[in-house]
Amino acid sequence: MIYLNGKFMPIEDARIPVLDRGFIFGDGVYEVIPVYSRKPFRLPEHLQRLQHSLDGIRLKNPHSNSEWSAILRQLIEVNDSEDQSVYLHVTRGVARRDHAFPKGAPPTVFIMSNPLLAPPQELLATGVAAISGIDNRWLRCDIKAISLLPNVLLRQMAIDSGAMETVLFRDGFMTEGAASNIFVVKNETLLAPPKNNLMLPGITYDVVLELAEAHRIRHEVRAVSEYEVRTADEILLTSSTREIMPITLLDGKPVGKGSPGVVFEVLYSLYQEYKLTVMRGGEAKLKVES
Ligand SMILES: Cc1ncc(COP(=O)(O)O)c(C=O)c1O
Repeated sequence: MIYLNGKFMPIEDARIPVLDRGFIFGDGVYEVIPVYSRKPFRLPEHLQRLQHSLDGIRLKNPHSNSEWSAILRQLIEVNDSEDQSVYLHVTRGVARRDHAFPKGAPPTVFIMSNPLLAPPQELLATGVAAISGIDNRWLRCDIKAISLLPNVLLRQMAIDSGAMETVLFRDGFMTEGAASNIFVVKNETLLAPPKNNLMLPGITYDVVLELAEAHRIRHEVRAVSEYEVRTADEILLTSSTREIMPITLLDGKPVGKGSPGVVFEVLYSLYQEYKLTVMRGGEAKLKVES
């Protein structure tokens, strides 16, 4: 079942007018929220990022956070899987085609849920291949916009060369992946690029940095150069659906020893542990151990 503009229905019955600005202009924003044991993971953070994206495209939020929570609760309930990946999408509605914002068009709200499948253990054991690419996207990558054409093309480049992700560089520095955030380990220090307009502020990225802080894993948030990525001991990718994965091959060359490293192993198990704690109703935010 999906949710479309106030109604729950089978996806086959969902209809969007062709003049929807999402279809015509890619004029909308989205979120992907992982759900474990029917509980949305880090929902307040996802709703806060949704608000940031809506503000970024000057579209009024059609719902309060409690309304969003109630809609999501119902959608999660009517879908089968315990673990789900919820895709939530808001566009600037239906109007005669004109770039200018329409007056009084209600936004289109579409939400669907798919089963959330954890990355296969075999891939976690070997790590995945990535290629590099030039980040040719716009300068507002902090907005989770539905207009994803550059990301689609960059990701397809990876698929075409038998890799899983494209690591993006802009002006000699690493920004993120085509659909993930990227971390690097060098000299036993986890390096993360600082959040800015050139990357999506990942929810998983935040969790990883909180885990590093709480467990005293040496880390630095600072610009990461292309050279540091190419000579890294480890490279990790993070996203809500792929959690944390090791990249062990970059442009056909082994990363470090060419197998998942110790920082990945530690962060992966801390992440799994943290997920379980949160799902059992434990502490939602991590505290730094004293
Ligand atoms: C471009 C991009 N960066 C980063 C991420 C990771 O964000 P999150 O951890 O919130 O899923 C995504 C998620 O799909 C993405 O598309």
